[in-house]
Amino acid sequence: MSTGSWILLDHVVALLSIAAWFAAGVTLALRRTRLTPAVLGTAVLVTLLRVGTVGMLAGRGWWFVQEKVLLGLPMLGAAGVGAVLLAGPYLLAAGRGRTVGRSVRAVVAVFTAAYAALAGLVVTFLVGYPLTAGTALITVSLVCAGALLTARVVAAPAESTAAVDVAPAPEDRRAISRRRFIAWTGGAVVVTTAGAGTGLSFLPAESVTRGGGPGRPSRAGVSVADLRGADAPAPGGTVRRHVLTAKQATVRLPSGREVDAWAFNGQVAGPALTATEGDLVEVRLRNADIEGGVTLHWHGYDVPCGEDGVPGVTQRAVPPGADFVYRFRADQVGTYWYHTHHASHIGVRKGLYGSLVVSPRAGQRADEQVDLTLPVHTFDGTVVIAARDGRTEHPAPPGTPVRLRLINTDSDPHRIVLAGTPFRLAAVDGRDLNQPGEVRDVGLYLPAGGRYDLVFRMPDRSVALVVDDDRAGGLRLRPPADAPAATHVADTSGLPELDLLRYGAPAAVPFDPGRADRHFTMVLDRGIALVNGRPAYAQTVNGRGHPGIPDQLVADGDVVRMTVVNRSLETHPWHLHGHSVLILSRDGTPSTGSPLWVDTFDVRPGETWEVAFRATNPGIWMNHCHNLPHAEQGMMLRLRYAGVTTPFGGPHGEGATHEH
Ligand code: C2O
Ligand code: CU
Repeated sequence: MSTGSWILLDHVVALLSIAAWFAAGVTLALRRTRLTPAVLGTAVLVTLLRVGTVGMLAGRGWWFVQEKVLLGLPMLGAAGVGAVLLAGPYLLAAGRGRTVGRSVRAVVAVFTAAYAALAGLVVTFLVGYPLTAGTALITVSLVCAGALLTARVVAAPAESTAAVDVAPAPEDRRAISRRRFIAWTGGAVVVTTAGAGTGLSFLPAESVTRGGGPGRPSRAGVSVADLRGADAPAPGGTVRRHVLTAKQATVRLPSGREVDAWAFNGQVAGPALTATEGDLVEVRLRNADIEGGVTLHWHGYDVPCGEDGVPGVTQRAVPPGADFVYRFRADQVGTYWYHTHHASHIGVRKGLYGSLVVSPRAGQRADEQVDLTLPVHTFDGTVVIAARDGRTEHPAPPGTPVRLRLINTDSDPHRIVLAGTPFRLAAVDGRDLNQPGEVRDVGLYLPAGGRYDLVFRMPDRSVALVVDDDRAGGLRLRPPADAPAATHVADTSGLPELDLLRYGAPAAVPFDPGRADRHFTMVLDRGIALVNGRPAYAQTVNGRGHPGIPDQLVADGDVVRMTVVNRSLETHPWHLHGHSVLILSRDGTPSTGSPLWVDTFDVRPGETWEVAFRATNPGIWMNHCHNLPHAEQGMMLRLRYAGVTTPFGGPHGEGATHEH
């Protein structure tokens, strides 16, 4: 069973235990002495079952269980034992037919166990990992407060009848004043603990984490504003000049459907930028009328930091009427894309994106080659591939070499199937794989932001590219001799997934990931956290939201390892700017295929990924979830080279110039 399934099962068992303890409390309070033992027994059993599910999860990693093992289960365990010890004898006596009144203590104890069970689950959902002393104190005090309140409610009728009927007997009076004393001191203790817990929670976090490396700057301060790209092409290269104007537009798709878009030069996808290795790419970004501002981020392209297009970090967002020129050398060959990085959860969704493809200088592609760049984007539920919705046909004579460059510009993964031919997955995220073998009848999952290059030689029958198992849409490559109707595509939904960690052949990598200079762990979850200064039910990294997540500090030349753990029930496509990372392992299973260099990798529910890279591109780099709404909801932080500063304060990040 996958860790994700165990997480889900554990939630279900936790819910059942809450229900069972509350049911036990209610039946006991109603003096249903025959029913209560069965319900109480169930509560105990489900609680023991919970110990089992938590134990299983613990085997998958401490991150998945920390708050359960340190707080939830001990609290529930203690309260549960108390409940059984107090309610047990009472129920036994009742079972023997002795007339018994209501046992206030037993009722309170059983309800306390119910509160403890509930509190444990609430902590898991609202706080998660890591558990802090503040959270623990607040939780325990809330459960105690619940117990005190319950005691008041349950005991109240007895008190009032006594008061109305006759003057209380001396022993009753003693009991009442003892109860008052307990209530008052209990209340005081609860309030103090809760206060201490809240105080602890507001302690400021470290603003930087060093991942076990030194903290001293390795160089005197450099501003990102000075980390700009080259201004001339490599010898033999040319300058590729483009102007991209961001503007609101109503775009008409081939089906006739109109999209209320934000577009570059009036089209979605934006202009397909191409270059040859060594060229200088020079793009003037103009903002016509996008209110909040726009930028251009070169996704997966390891440009100098000043060209990275992150508002508030590498530049200021470009307001309406203004422009900004990006310049960098096309040193990386392959399939990439660009998009706005300002309020990108809106801007990219509405259409501010396009492709960037760089071809190798040597071995120019043959003219007869079919080479299609296919950004896949969803506009209000309609999948648009390149600029077309519905089904697209493309002629391809048999024997032609074909390259399909798929780009996922959405925030969720797409499932890609190529039907009708064997093929190779030649490149992932722009980087060639080593000896990618021929495959057929497999499904490929393309992470949000990711790219796959599929290559094959055109057979003499049609080939279908199917996205998300929608056989009616997608792309058809058709040899002129093949009848259009001949393109029957069998159901693709059952095809197995190609595991990229076992695809292709291993090869040497340029550093030893086993000797990392820094190691950062990011535990992804949901929880209550501050996002841009406001409390929210955030998408969190180590329990915090942007910009309150500590910067990761690295030094030029470091080998850096990252462990990314997903505690949540959603997929998080993790994306680091400015570097590609080498995949080391998933859930402890090492990558044994081709070295896999990516800029975006899907961390599915319950998964743990280990990646590494060498820090050779100084700057301040965003490190975030590429489900862009998740990033907006807090799942975003910065990886910062020691000594690099930014002069750009802004809506998406303060100066970040401090060093600790
Ligand atoms: Cu394509 Cu920061 O993202
Ligand atoms: Cu995410």
